[in-house]
Amino acid sequence: MKKRGICVWLTGLPCSGKSTIAKILAEKLIERGRDVEILDGDIVRNFLNKDLGFSKEDRLENMRRVSVLAELLTKHGIDVIVALVSPYREGRDKARDLLGNFVEVFVKAPVEVCEKRDVKGMYKLAREGKIKNFTGIDDPYEEPLNPEVVCETDKETPEESVSKIIRYLEEADMVEKKEEEEVGYTEEEEEIVKKRLEELGYI
Ligand SMILES: Nc1ncnc2c1ncn2[C@@H]1O[C@H](COP(=O)(O)OP(=O)(O)OP(=O)(O)O)[C@@H](O)[C@H]1O
Ligand SMILES: [Mg+2]
Repeated sequence: MKKRGICVWLTGLPCSGKSTIAKILAEKLIERGRDVEILDGDIVRNFLNKDLGFSKEDRLENMRRVSVLAELLTKHGIDVIVALVSPYREGRDKARDLLGNFVEVFVKAPVEVCEKRDVKGMYKLAREGKIKNFTGIDDPYEEPLNPEVVCETDKETPEESVSKIIRYLEEADMVEKKEEEEVGYTEEEEEIVKKRLEELGYI
């Protein structure tokens, strides 16, 4: 049977860096020959959860549907990277229970930093009252209590954050350690090794 894929669940405030990390992490895992799918909040909301809004109930339903989809994919050996604000512990814990092979990554940055980044101009709209229930402004974000990895994106580069996640996956034996490049001997060194082996009677 095919081995179950892993689910790396990136949670954090808007503009904390989830999508950025998801893309780089996917590239790194693909380089290692793994099958990877990203379930990104923005995209998922368009094709799967168009009917949902931003109430607590709808956000939990959003997380539930993403978990179910992630479970289907991981069951068939595909690694899933979820990039979703996923502000409620309850929803993340349910995902953990359903998925098993679950790695919760807290993509952490102070709200002031996220607001300054304002990649999509949403913080501005929230401040102006043009959108309601915006996480970090007028909607809660429940920080993870025991995440497997914390990426402090106000202090690290995206590459450093991704390396942290990969290191965790390797140490937890969830992905194989990348083989170090073969250290080749120079001709001179090869000669010395050969001589020594001859002396010892091996060749
Ligand atoms: N260590 C880091 N990891 C990820 N992003 C970083 C990091 N340092 C700086 N950034 C920058 O922060 C911004 C994060 O934007 P991104 O769209 O990834 O956030 P997001 O969490 O997906 O937001 P949203 O919830 O609105 O989709 C990017 O401009 C990125 O370059
Ligand atoms: Mg995003």
